Amino acid sequence: MKIEAVTSPTIALDAPPWVRHEALKHWVAQVCALTRPERVVWCDGSQAEYDRLCGELVAAGTFFPLNPAKRPGSYLSRSDPSDVARVEDRTFICSVHRQDAGPTNNWVEPLDMKRTLTRLFDGCMRGRTLYVVPFSMGPLGSPIAQIGVELTDSAYVAVSMRIMTRMGRSAMELLGEDGAFVPCLHSVGMPLAPGQPDVPWPCNPEHKYIVHFPEEHAIWSYGSGYGGNALLGKKCFALRIASSMGRDQGWLAEHMLILGVQSPQGDKSYLAAAFPSACGKTNFAMLIPPPAFAGWKVTTVGDDIAWIKPDAQGRLRAINPEFGFFGVAPGTSWQSNPNAMETLRANCIFTNVALTEDGDVWWEGMTDTPPARLTDWQGEAWTPDCGRKAAHPNARFTVPAAQCPSIDPAWEDPAGVPISAFVFGGRRSSTVPLVLESFSWTDGVYLAATMGSETTAAAAGKVGDVRRDPFAMLPFCGYNMADYFDHWLSMAHRLTETPRIFCVNWFRKTADGRFLWPGYGENMRVLKWIVDRCHGRTQAVQSPLGWMPASQEILWEGLPETVQEAFHDAMSLHREEWMRELLLHEELFIRLYDRLPKELALRRELMLAALSRAPERWSLPA
Ligand code: GTP
Ligand code: SPV
Ligand code: MN
Repeated sequence: MKIEAVTSPTIALDAPPWVRHEALKHWVAQVCALTRPERVVWCDGSQAEYDRLCGELVAAGTFFPLNPAKRPGSYLSRSDPSDVARVEDRTFICSVHRQDAGPTNNWVEPLDMKRTLTRLFDGCMRGRTLYVVPFSMGPLGSPIAQIGVELTDSAYVAVSMRIMTRMGRSAMELLGEDGAFVPCLHSVGMPLAPGQPDVPWPCNPEHKYIVHFPEEHAIWSYGSGYGGNALLGKKCFALRIASSMGRDQGWLAEHMLILGVQSPQGDKSYLAAAFPSACGKTNFAMLIPPPAFAGWKVTTVGDDIAWIKPDAQGRLRAINPEFGFFGVAPGTSWQSNPNAMETLRANCIFTNVALTEDGDVWWEGMTDTPPARLTDWQGEAWTPDCGRKAAHPNARFTVPAAQCPSIDPAWEDPAGVPISAFVFGGRRSSTVPLVLESFSWTDGVYLAATMGSETTAAAAGKVGDVRRDPFAMLPFCGYNMADYFDHWLSMAHRLTETPRIFCVNWFRKTADGRFLWPGYGENMRVLKWIVDRCHGRTQAVQSPLGWMPASQEILWEGLPETVQEAFHDAMSLHREEWMRELLLHEELFIRLYDRLPKELALRRELMLAALSRAPERWSLPA
């Protein structure tokens, strides 16, 4: 497909004076020639611009302003029912060589993919506005931060990017005349013929492509307006492209929350924790310690993504590249996550939640008793007995991180925060214990690499199947997963001190399907043990799989005895279950065989040997 000459060059070249980057202007002109938008808007990121775009979204029926007395400055948006989550089977890593994308990613030869995309993008913005959205992932000017520019025909994306990233004129000015940026091209894929009325949530029901060119550091996304498919700074840039940059440059881009823990003694430790999508990162990042933990304080640096680099002293330091939270709404309540509820008091965009009669929002789990009447996420009348969910299970809020009461004082420190430990957690109703510390860095990499988790509504497809989700990065690793394991193993050699590695599972259930562990704020009991381990303040018991806390190492004050009994079950290891688990590890290793680091296969053999000597049911000493 030939890209036509710019027919109306004034469109793109009419950039404001603070845009001084000729190559960027040239790219915008090229995209205009291909996609043929009606007009171009260069986003400056100002409040006035945000308010104007939100007003336009209200006029278009995309946004519904919420009651300003209940939820000031906030809007409800309802997506098309076919466009509610990330589309993993439509996500591609188009490296030059197939092997560099690896067996866990979809791959198409890059030129081939460019041809397909060029055909789809040809005229795809007709009748629409193209927004030029410059943004910084990470504090402006931080040595760890990077700039991207998203070209999108969605005003919803433009306003969301202002919440989720440092967006606008200052990011553009940092680029100067020739700074490097990641080009992110996005279209909802629904051109408008002259006179054709628009719909509230344009998207393309037939064709969706979320495409990454890792060598070129470029992103093309077509057909969806939702979340990680469309807010390209997030999963596409900050995880898939950044993970590939990190491999080349010696750093890490991870699907991790970052939190700070201050002990009563006054010491402060930072942890980074990886959990798959919709498995509790936001909750954990905003944890409020129960009353028994007087003097302990947990603070939030980030809830979804961490960029982690060794500093000059050989210590890992992490930044949160984002500026806002795009969090799962259902299940969020004053009980489960008061910090999130406080954060959501104003200036939010809610997508696919239910609307109350007084113009506020509601979702499953927000209150014990649902309101008698609601408008559901699809705009239909809803009552508690109607048999449908009021909010979509992947309904989300978009909100500035600065509004979070537990936000850490150092969350915008350009140098990042020092990381003392990594935590990995899946959603497993059986097999995996509540908490475990790895014997070593290599062993921790093994545990993270072989992590399994039940699938959630964050991705389109079946919910509840256990799949391997290495490092919670299965949908987000921008290169060969085996090379990624190798990168993690080799990271140890760049450090003077390796953080400890822990695994947790808040989701283990009883035979009759109840959660064994109370979770949420009570996770502090596990978190304290982890932090105390980092400071050498507590003991551990050796299990066949790693170090574990004996019951007396856990602070139980304020919990009923029954939880201690459940703890015993939640920590037990069943040989048969683990033998089956190791077969699943082997399945993953066979898929990754040609580039799998030797250490991991050998580590599996050792684990097999240890398990075969273990009793049928291994428990902590009583
Ligand atoms: P993404 O934003 O999708 O990357 O996910 P996230 O990991 O930030 O998800 P979030 O914290 O919003 O997870 C929400 C889900 O986790 C809901 O289903 C919660 O009920 C559940 N959850 C969170 N913490 C706990 C816990 O401690 N115990 C249990 N049982 N469930 C939890
Ligand atoms: C996830 O799915 O892990 C998310 C939401 O954080 S999205 O940005 O849509 O990918
Ligand atoms: Mn996520």
